[in-house]
Amino acid sequence: MGHFPIQTADPRAGYLALRPEIDAAIRSVLEGPGYILGDAVARFEAEFAAYIGVSHGIGVNNGTDALHLALRAVGIGAGDEVITVSHTAVATVTAIAMAGATPVLADVDPRTRTIDPALVEELITPATKAVIAVHLYGHPAHLEELLLLCDRHGLVLVEDCAQSHGAEWKRRRTGSFGRVAAFSFYPTKNLGAIGDAGMVVTDDPKLASQLRLIRQYGWDRPQYSLVPGWNTRLDPVQAAILSVKLKHLDAHTARRRALAANYVAQLADLPLTMPIQRDDAKHVYHLFVVEARDKHTRDGLREHLMEQGINAGIHYPFGVHQQPAYAGKLRTGSMGMTEQLAQTVLSLPLYPELSDTDHGIVCRKVRAFFEAER
Ligand SMILES: Cc1ncc(COP(=O)(O)O)c(C=O)c1O
Repeated sequence: MGHFPIQTADPRAGYLALRPEIDAAIRSVLEGPGYILGDAVARFEAEFAAYIGVSHGIGVNNGTDALHLALRAVGIGAGDEVITVSHTAVATVTAIAMAGATPVLADVDPRTRTIDPALVEELITPATKAVIAVHLYGHPAHLEELLLLCDRHGLVLVEDCAQSHGAEWKRRRTGSFGRVAAFSFYPTKNLGAIGDAGMVVTDDPKLASQLRLIRQYGWDRPQYSLVPGWNTRLDPVQAAILSVKLKHLDAHTARRRALAANYVAQLADLPLTMPIQRDDAKHVYHLFVVEARDKHTRDGLREHLMEQGINAGIHYPFGVHQQPAYAGKLRTGSMGMTEQLAQTVLSLPLYPELSDTDHGIVCRKVRAFFEAER
């Protein structure tokens, strides 16, 4: 890999832009009374839950653990089926397997690239217990239809909000629709830590208590396990950093949305499919994902950008059902759209600190590729 002055995402730029505040937050934990859970974690849990519009936040070690604990807390385990997408980070499916349940994969709606509720319906069996809606790339999944469907079939709706901090459906934030929702604060996320971090959020006080138990050995007091649990606590250094960054999240989202609008304005006439934002939805552009007409064009464009020092990513080059760990081992619906997206998607650089100049360079280099093609 060469040197890429322009990355798809740049968490280091995010740190440097807020360095004095972040350094002070880290120091406050280093000088504080203890290094496990404590005030910094409790404060960030309360702040983030309030931001999402729910009553409880339970900080955990990463987004995968957040999904795993969310599934465990709603009683999902061996013999239960959980329906989600193949067009996602593998972590969504990893978490289902961690809970001992069976993942079942549905194809996505080509417009929003999120789970197609009609296709979920076809996959439901008596063993189905939950649906995980992934708000992929920062666009909310079809929440209205999914809530109705889950209601009709007695299923639990779990939201995977790893890419959708601050995204809205009908002016309500993602993470406030399902019985329980999981967030990742992986460094490149819209709200990113400087290491691993995650959170489960819910409005249900019983679920919240259960989650607090199982993130720490099932302890309801020190050295006393009420139920079997795990160790997946949010690190207080990360919590303190995240409290600082949360204050800037809305401004960062506004910058992401402005950059996305500008990409559309500059590139929409090219033979590339632009991301859409549904009416009533607020897209937070965790990733700005375009589709080329075929794999050859996508790979050619990516190569061309790399030669110019622009590292455009692919999210994701393989559906989960196409990866050796899961291929042939999972029940799925038709996977036509998922397999097509794996061949055609390209994530253009987009993060709050991306300068107008660098954004302009990316636009020009993308144009140049298609002009040279003619
Ligand atoms: C959609 C989705 N779900 C789950 C995760 C898992 O989060 P983490 O990497 O914090 O475990 C991620 C991020 O990697 C993700 O993008």
